[in-house]
Amino acid sequence: MENNKRPESMDRITTPELARTFIDEQLAAIKAQVGGKKVLLALSGGVDSSVVAALLIKAIGQNLVCVHVNHGLLRKGEPEQVIEVFRNQMNANLVYVDATDRFLDKLAGVSDPEQKRKIIGSEFIDVFAEEAAKQDGIEFLAQGTIYPDILESGPVKSHHNVGGLPEDLHFELVEPIKFLFKDEVRVVGKELGLPDNMVYRQPFPGPGLGVRCPGAITRERLAAVRESDAILREEFARSGLEGKVWQYFTVVPDFKSTGVRDGARTFDWPVIIRAVNTRDAMSATVENIPFDLMEHIVERITHEVEGVNRVLYDFTPKPTGTIEYE
Ligand code: XMP
Repeated sequence: MENNKRPESMDRITTPELARTFIDEQLAAIKAQVGGKKVLLALSGGVDSSVVAALLIKAIGQNLVCVHVNHGLLRKGEPEQVIEVFRNQMNANLVYVDATDRFLDKLAGVSDPEQKRKIIGSEFIDVFAEEAAKQDGIEFLAQGTIYPDILESGPVKSHHNVGGLPEDLHFELVEPIKFLFKDEVRVVGKELGLPDNMVYRQPFPGPGLGVRCPGAITRERLAAVRESDAILREEFARSGLEGKVWQYFTVVPDFKSTGVRDGARTFDWPVIIRAVNTRDAMSATVENIPFDLMEHIVERITHEVEGVNRVLYDFTPKPTGTIEYE
């Protein structure tokens, strides 16, 4: 395999100074590799692709074309943040594609988890390839590959990341962070001036909120997942749990139960909260959330999220439960 081993002489990037040295080296390497040619990048807003985007913007400016595909399964505020940070603040050449209807129409009525993943993955590739075809003179494809992806010890991207890139696009690859571990990517991202909530964000699966809306996705239940997730993230940030809990999110299962509101009977969904800690995502423990914080989150979710009348907390470690629900 060509050049896929981290050089033994490479220092672990733990400080801003080391990050600056790495950034300078990579800017020179990128310029040497691509010269005045154009590079395409699928920019999800995750830390890896964001760091690659920031590096390439510094190295080649407008010759980087970023494509941000909104598959309709992103968290609240994510596409807006990608546009704000990259287009407005960094002046990136950013193509934003709102493909929500396309994805949700294809997913309508599909309840099998693997089928859902396949549809999301192949639709993503189609949308990205269509956007690539609209661009003239692209010769390179940048990717946010990191070292665990190469080592194949990364449980996340290696077995089912649907955010992966089209193999049928035959461009030369630009992979500036392929020898970095996640913690190093974050140090570099911080040094590149990316916002903290992008640099330190929790893992988010490629199929996005789609795996947190078990069974056939409907727009209404998806909205309940998105709104409850936003409340949970807001409250975790407010109470200092952000960055301390590895992954936390909500799930809205496809069943309803009775409730009562203002003296009248309701028949609505429950929201399930999951908050776990892990080192490698192969096993996970459940986070001990302060009870008064839980009460406050329940109060907010049941009052602010339409169609929800209960909140449940998932106490199951992995094993036996996986982190996600599908
Ligand atoms: P599980 O649910 O298998 O998840 O315990 C382990 C870690 O992998 C993430 N995950 C995914 N990431 N595409 C991804 O990119 C996926 O389809 C996917 N499924 C699970 C999950 O969020 C957790 O961090």
